[in-house]
Amino acid sequence: MSIFETPAELVISCYKRLGPFLEQELRALGYEPSYASDSMVRVPGTAADAMLLNMKLRTASQIMYPLLQFDAQDPEQVYQALKRYPFERLLQPEGYFSVRSHVKHPSVNNPMFINMRVKDAVVDRMREKTNRRPNTGSDYSGAVLHLYWVGDQATLFADTSGETIARHGYRMHPGKAPLLESIASAMLLATDWEASQPLLNPMGGVGTLAIEAACMATQRYPGLYRRRYAFQHLQGYNETDYIEALLDLEDLVAEVDMPKIVVNDRDTRMLSLALQNAEKAGVRQYINTVGGDFREIKIPETAGWALLNPEYGERLGEVEQLAGVYAEIGSWMKHSLPGWKVGIVSGNLELLGKIGLKADRRIPLYNGRIDSRFCLYSMYAGSRRGDRSS
Ligand SMILES: C[S@@+](CC[C@H](N)C(=O)[O-])C[C@H]1O[C@@H](n2cnc3c(N)ncnc32)[C@H](O)[C@@H]1O
Repeated sequence: MSIFETPAELVISCYKRLGPFLEQELRALGYEPSYASDSMVRVPGTAADAMLLNMKLRTASQIMYPLLQFDAQDPEQVYQALKRYPFERLLQPEGYFSVRSHVKHPSVNNPMFINMRVKDAVVDRMREKTNRRPNTGSDYSGAVLHLYWVGDQATLFADTSGETIARHGYRMHPGKAPLLESIASAMLLATDWEASQPLLNPMGGVGTLAIEAACMATQRYPGLYRRRYAFQHLQGYNETDYIEALLDLEDLVAEVDMPKIVVNDRDTRMLSLALQNAEKAGVRQYINTVGGDFREIKIPETAGWALLNPEYGERLGEVEQLAGVYAEIGSWMKHSLPGWKVGIVSGNLELLGKIGLKADRRIPLYNGRIDSRFCLYSMYAGSRRGDRSS
């Protein structure tokens, strides 16, 4: 039986702090997580499940299938343990594979070295058993093996994703400081926005939040935009099953009648990139772009959600200037958005304080490596909630 038929404990990694959102997504897809942390969730499943999850999950990064667990005191023991694994039943004899690792062990100070030893073990085993050898390299275009070795316990995984699935494949133009797609979708999961409500994206850049929202509303999954995954290079992979899963994803798409999502940016070059990205994602028809200052957006009569991802500056001068922008955002929320809900993500906690309103929730996130907060506000008419700094 191949790993596509053999149940195991899949390890699904995500950006740090997205764990709860990934768990929520998995439960909604009918999976029962057996363990969850802030950066990974484990669920029982086969590599066939991993294939479907690669195509459907929005907040995940990598989906790994465990192959072998062993004790290791030094790199030689890793080599010996791996050489006993039947890679001839996992990899194509003349295929291509690469190795990733996460190692914390006193005997290893150069991760490249341990990756080399993993490659050696695989190639030596394959040569012995098949008289042929797979090629190796550093890009993730073929099969990918992942060694996790912390303390004296090591696990070898087949990384079924290869290139990360945190990017959703429709973004042709990144613009400047775009949100990672998996983070944007986690932000949307944290709101109670419904497609029937207006959604404003006043500092929208290349439209990531708006596109993710439109994809969620119309059940467009990331697998629609990507054709290559590492699982396709593992033995037992069945192309027909993959094509069927892809057709199922296409069948799930449900066009809806909803108010246009407004993407505004004062930099109009961003807006044409946003439209190209939306076109690629197939959701161009759900998005309206407006160029100008966020305070000039025409506010729909029915209250909904506004999601903002303002710049947070890296140099001191920029941060001082941005303090005024954050204060203006707060005042705009108070005066222009009574009855609305607002979500603001920023990597500068002091600047967030300049909004001057009390947040209902402050969700810790990482934007890249930056400790960030996604603050959620309910704007009451007359601003009954204190005008205090959050
Ligand atoms: C961090 S980027 C947003 C990135 C966006 N989330 C994405 O994924 O592409 C901030 C955006 O706010 C825009 N911006 C800054 N000040 C603005 C203002 N006063 N009114 C409208 N847009 C503004 C910038 O042009 C920039 O594109």
